[in-house]
Amino acid sequence: MKILAFESSCDETAVAVVEDGRRVLSDVIASQVATHAEFGGVVPEIASRKHVECIAALAEEALRQAGCTRQDIDAVAVTYAPGLIGAVLVGLNFAKSVAYGLGVPLIPVHHIRGHIAANYIAFPELEPPFLALAISGGNTMIVDVRSYTEMHILGATRDDAAGECFDKAARVLGLPYPGGRPMDELAQKSAGGVYKLPHAHVDGAELDMSFSGLKTAVVNLAHHARQVGEPLDEAALARDFTEAVSGALVPRVVRALELTGHTRVAAAGGVAANSFIRADLERACAERGCTLYLPPLKLCGDNGAMIGAQGYYEYLAGNTAGMELNAYATRDIDE
Ligand code: KG4
Repeated sequence: MKILAFESSCDETAVAVVEDGRRVLSDVIASQVATHAEFGGVVPEIASRKHVECIAALAEEALRQAGCTRQDIDAVAVTYAPGLIGAVLVGLNFAKSVAYGLGVPLIPVHHIRGHIAANYIAFPELEPPFLALAISGGNTMIVDVRSYTEMHILGATRDDAAGECFDKAARVLGLPYPGGRPMDELAQKSAGGVYKLPHAHVDGAELDMSFSGLKTAVVNLAHHARQVGEPLDEAALARDFTEAVSGALVPRVVRALELTGHTRVAAAGGVAANSFIRADLERACAERGCTLYLPPLKLCGDNGAMIGAQGYYEYLAGNTAGMELNAYATRDIDE
């Protein structure tokens, strides 16, 4: 079954053709990063307009690279939530039109379910159940993946996502948007251990997280140093910040493994590209004899292939939608 998949929830327009959930026939992405970098973050209306401009051409290109015609497409999958609402609406409406025009089923895909499904592309042997750590620009959660379409959130951030925190910490250090990768590279230049940063705990919810205090601490620390003319060891701050994020995520993943009895962990989302978090997860899983699935960096960020992969399993579960399908800025992965 060939699925034409659309992703437009943030600042990447992505279209892919995926066969039977696992075989990527094409995966094309138009990134808007350069446009938003000028503003230090994503400007929602500009993101929507950029999606409008390029989505049709990307769809044609995805078909061309897959060696398919429109008639070869058996279904259309699309991110319908969560994300920047205007941006999601562009992809959703275009996907609806394609499904309507071709007379094929329309499959709504939750963006974070898509991120998790990137692992099905990278690791053909991986099947649920397993534990997933989904860490992206807008979401941070530990998910009990019980089947391809039954998921339960075990813990999540109560405020900012890990990626949002990376981006804002990077901005105060004068690094370009999106800040995750430059922060990663800067952190590699220092052993850290210079700055004491807060580690938050949520009373009564040991797997929940909070990153806003950490974000504010880094911003305040940098502003204070500049105001009083103190030198700022930027590489050490990047390293200590990254250790703090990883120190919040990895022990909770370990605890979730203990609580659920899972022996396999899959990482997902843009922040899963972080070299320190990857190394810490590898160490923690090796110590416990658990298997860790770390998708290649290309599949960590937003892409259309992951939507096509999850779309296939949603289709098999009967989760298709009518033309009244709407977009949602927020929606739980288990709704
Ligand atoms: O999954 P993604 O592409 O988009 C969302 O669905 O949100 O994630 C983007 C996020 C950004 O915040 C970006 O700074 C972060 O992933 N990111 C990283 C790294 N590479 C990308 N964060 C930490 N370390 C990295 N190497």
